[in-house]
Amino acid sequence: MKKVQINKFGSAHVAEMINAPIPVPKAGQLLVKLKACSVNPVDAQIRQGHYRDFTPLPFNLGFDGAGIVEAAADDVVNFRVGDSVYFVSSILNGEGTYAQYCIVDAELAALIPDTLDFNQAAALSLVGSAAWESLIDRGRLQAGETVLIHAGAGGVGHIAIQIAKAIGAKVIATAKQDNLECLKSLGADIALDYQDENFNRQLSMAAGTGVELVLDTVAGNTIADSAQVLAERGRIVSLADYCPAQNLLALWPKNAEIHLVFMTPSSKWLNNLNKLVDQGKMRVIIDKIFPFEKVVEAHEYLQHNGRVGKIILAIS
Ligand SMILES: NC(=O)c1ccc[n+]([C@@H]2O[C@H](COP(=O)([O-])OP(=O)(O)OC[C@H]3O[C@@H](n4cnc5c(N)ncnc54)[C@H](OP(=O)(O)O)[C@@H]3O)[C@@H](O)[C@H]2O)c1
Repeated sequence: MKKVQINKFGSAHVAEMINAPIPVPKAGQLLVKLKACSVNPVDAQIRQGHYRDFTPLPFNLGFDGAGIVEAAADDVVNFRVGDSVYFVSSILNGEGTYAQYCIVDAELAALIPDTLDFNQAAALSLVGSAAWESLIDRGRLQAGETVLIHAGAGGVGHIAIQIAKAIGAKVIATAKQDNLECLKSLGADIALDYQDENFNRQLSMAAGTGVELVLDTVAGNTIADSAQVLAERGRIVSLADYCPAQNLLALWPKNAEIHLVFMTPSSKWLNNLNKLVDQGKMRVIIDKIFPFEKVVEAHEYLQHNGRVGKIILAIS
């Protein structure tokens, strides 16, 4: 089978297509014939060597995917050969889903809803799981609360808007001017252009007496800056990988709660997302699909600004 590996850290060109034996599932595992995986910022960050202490070379890229169960260990009872499944594998494990086949712990997989194709399921898997864990599990978002979702046009952001709306929260979301209509179409009550010179004033007005939850996928000073809009005892959930040192003093008198999330892959998140898909409350946006062989181009495309939703590698 073919899979994508890096043997050194660097530009998109270090991503190499290699031949490897098809792996064999052990107890509790599935062998999945992949039809699609998504390209996530973490893949590029690993490729560039940001986490080199955790990602020894050679490293197999990719942490999510969708495909067909090709084989299952004898002790797996919840899936059968031929099932269409999607999943997020343990982050940083190096198993690699930029591949024609991969091994998945059965407890991490979920059946793909009838209305999603393999590309859409792969697109939803990691970002949907991260959004669910951040908003609902860690952020404890409730109906009637207001959430500020930064980067609403991103992979995580566009799903987070829909989860928040589905549970009955009010959503303020940010993006570039060109993407504001898209945020509204996903359900955002207020969509703000983060590049507008009056952005901070507009955000303060939109937040009124304060938002109960902020979702940060932007990094920079976002956690510290949340003091401007956070309600008393509000929560900030950050998925951002790199944050500079920030002065958090203004958050102290607010008794703010700060959660740093390194997502925990789980079929729980996927099954919850499946319910929203089945209820027609979840739409997955794919920005661009690349054939598997065009992995270098897909990684280069990840650097483009102004994208909406996900980048997919279609695998045959
Ligand atoms: N910790 C975890 O477990 C975990 C899990 C998932 C994701 N993440 C991280 O979360 C981040 C986002 O992931 P993603 O998949 O959503 O990435 P993505 O699809 O590349 O989206 C990033 C979005 O951020 C927007 N953006 C950039 N600067 C902004 C700003 N100042 N204000 C508002 N929006 C801004 C970009 O919009 P423009 O293109 O218009 O600039 C883009 O829409 C990445 O760093 C990723 O690694 C972490």
